[in-house]
Amino acid sequence: MEFLCIFLLQYEKGCGIIGMRTGAKPVPYIRINLRKGVFNMKKILALLAVVALMATMLCFAGCGEKAEDEVLDMATNAAFPPYEYKGDDGNFAGIDVEIAGKIAEKLGMTLKIHDVDFDTIISGVQTGKFDMGMAGMTVTDERKKSVNFSDTYATGVQAVIVKADSTYTSYEDFYTGFGDDGNPLGTKEGIKIGVQQGTTGDIYCSDEPAKWGFGMSNVTQYKTGAEAIEALKGGKVTAVIIDNEPAKSFVAANEGLKILEGKYTEEDYAICVAKDKEELLNKINTALKELIADGTVAQIVEKYIPSDEK
Ligand code: ARG
Repeated sequence: MEFLCIFLLQYEKGCGIIGMRTGAKPVPYIRINLRKGVFNMKKILALLAVVALMATMLCFAGCGEKAEDEVLDMATNAAFPPYEYKGDDGNFAGIDVEIAGKIAEKLGMTLKIHDVDFDTIISGVQTGKFDMGMAGMTVTDERKKSVNFSDTYATGVQAVIVKADSTYTSYEDFYTGFGDDGNPLGTKEGIKIGVQQGTTGDIYCSDEPAKWGFGMSNVTQYKTGAEAIEALKGGKVTAVIIDNEPAKSFVAANEGLKILEGKYTEEDYAICVAKDKEELLNKINTALKELIADGTVAQIVEKYIPSDEK
């Protein structure tokens, strides 16, 4: 654009100067070329118009891209305290939210949080609707086929929540017995497990008993962990299997629930990014490394999960 303006200015200047020099009629500067018969005034004006249009379009496209680039669109499912939730003030809060804020700061970008269903995060990241997914998301081989994961910034385990007056002491009590290989033989009659749809809890629990699941027909999927908890309180399911920190938050916020002893599975949490956004992933990893090294991540985790409660 600048180039175009200078060009036009010079053109006008040229007109003026040549006009003055040649006397009576101002002769446009362009006439110099016109004499050679290559251009005529109409063609040149048309050319100028096209150049101006292209320059304007380029500027718009460029400006648009720049504004877009400054926003880091993060997809999450904000019903997963203490990683992501909506505070009483209606603002997003949690470990992931704060770490993401620090990453965006390091990248010189503005964080924009999109609260979506957990099971739509990966496809949204894959199609470029979001730059990254950060939602206490566990790294799994299956998910790695669709997206890339950053370095791990936290670990979790799946916990089993039951009603406080439940007589079950472990998820192993949900099985009819165990075979010679030590694996479960079947799920007891009447056992119903509530999970959040599309989570690792859902994936593991929906598997067959021989693989330490409970069988699809015994698993009910809810949109959020909070809905699964409501179902447990209402006696619709025997247990809810969900990541341990959210499990602790739900038990603390709802009377009459407890977490059973024993870890169902151990997992690593990481940020997911589209496979074709390697540069962004590298930047995120660099930022994460710095934030882990200078103690920022630990500080944020400590704020939400005080070590005396761990
Ligand atoms: N860690 C589990 C998973 O990756 C559950 C994550 C659920 N996160 C959420 N924000 N609702 O599948």
